[in-house]
Amino acid sequence: MGGKRRVLVVGGYGAVGHEVGRVLAADRDRLDLVVGGRDAAKAAAVAAELGVEHLRVDVDDRASVDAALAGIDLVVNCFIATREPSLAVPEAAATKGIAYVDVAGVPESFCERVLGLGDAAKASGATLVTALGLNPGLVGLLVAAQRAHFDALQSVDVYFVMGGRLGGLTARSMQGIADMVRAPARQWRDGAWQPPAPKSCGRKARPPFDRNVYFGPAMITTDLVGLPSALGLDAFRFWSGMERTLQGMAFLLGIRWGRADTPERAERFLRRLRWLGGKKSSDEIGLEVVAQGVRGAAPFERRVSFHCREELATALGAAFAVRQWLVDRLRSPGAFVPHQALDLGAFVDQLRQAPVGYEGSEAPLAAGGPAADLLAPRK
Ligand SMILES: NC(=O)c1ccc[n+]([C@@H]2O[C@H](COP(=O)([O-])OP(=O)(O)OC[C@H]3O[C@@H](n4cnc5c(N)ncnc54)[C@H](OP(=O)(O)O)[C@@H]3O)[C@@H](O)[C@H]2O)c1
Repeated sequence: MGGKRRVLVVGGYGAVGHEVGRVLAADRDRLDLVVGGRDAAKAAAVAAELGVEHLRVDVDDRASVDAALAGIDLVVNCFIATREPSLAVPEAAATKGIAYVDVAGVPESFCERVLGLGDAAKASGATLVTALGLNPGLVGLLVAAQRAHFDALQSVDVYFVMGGRLGGLTARSMQGIADMVRAPARQWRDGAWQPPAPKSCGRKARPPFDRNVYFGPAMITTDLVGLPSALGLDAFRFWSGMERTLQGMAFLLGIRWGRADTPERAERFLRRLRWLGGKKSSDEIGLEVVAQGVRGAAPFERRVSFHCREELATALGAAFAVRQWLVDRLRSPGAFVPHQALDLGAFVDQLRQAPVGYEGSEAPLAAGGPAADLLAPRK
């Protein structure tokens, strides 16, 4: 395909959309970027900063979405309302044969509905990738990428830490987090998703965090559901914690008491939590994946981690998908969760090059250590 391709970022002046634009600005020789949003003046201001075009689009209005998608080759959807999100953007993309990527985490039903557009996408030649934000999008990619390093990958623990200063978090993403916290958590063991056991774990988090963090089991979202059986895992646990215990407790209690139920309440609540977090806490999020299994007939462990601002982490996966699509390496038409659609090795290479403090280590596990039973016959 010759010439530059046109990429529209919907919600392009929001925290995540703006970051997607900043990252993709480096690819301007290969694509024409368009900042889209329902407020044309705000879209114009961000477009001017990035040196790109802008247009007005309201995702709640199908006619506005259809008009905005005219002449677009790929759309990055960076606005998914927490309550009753519109399906107009993925539906229009699936019908018109336009590639589509979104950063949805919650609500789950949105991702499932995007996956339900798979037949329409196949018919039109579009590739749709849903749930490609930080949590769980990058999580699934990083977990799936571990498989290539083991003869048999057996257990994976993911530790997600949110910095106490909650930098980059918006009232909108607070509402999404509230929905995630309220949803029942599950963990994979003995070949099935089950209620979590144990219910918590304390551990030292990796830099930039320098203290013990209390982790609780996190909700398992659509894109992770098929992962353990696809990878043949015995155990998969996704832990989530916040840098400061005092703030973490206030966060959890506040969510249970409905403090993030409306955008206004979420905004007030976020301000108070930031105040509680204090100046010494981090502005970043951190993610560590601990994978154990067998390599060369011996128990073996890999640890990979990265940390950066939340909005950059949320934007990275979508930007990576756009780059894969630019070189025609996004999977063939249909609707997919990230680990089904993207080249995992290329993703890790790109993460290593991004300004996210990526670290990886691997080592044999000591005989008699906590994973000594890895070589025992599997059930
Ligand atoms: N998976 C993850 O890890 C993760 C993490 C964070 C966020 N997210 C997702 O990212 C999305 C954006 O989060 P954010 O932090 O960037 O929020 P944000 O800063 O509030 O940005 C949302 C943007 O969408 C725009 N918007 C609102 N209603 C719209 C409509 N009807 N049509 C078109 N644009 C509209 C907003 O414009 P106005 O200023 O005009 O309202 C704003 O520019 C969230 O919806 C969430 O789904 C995912």
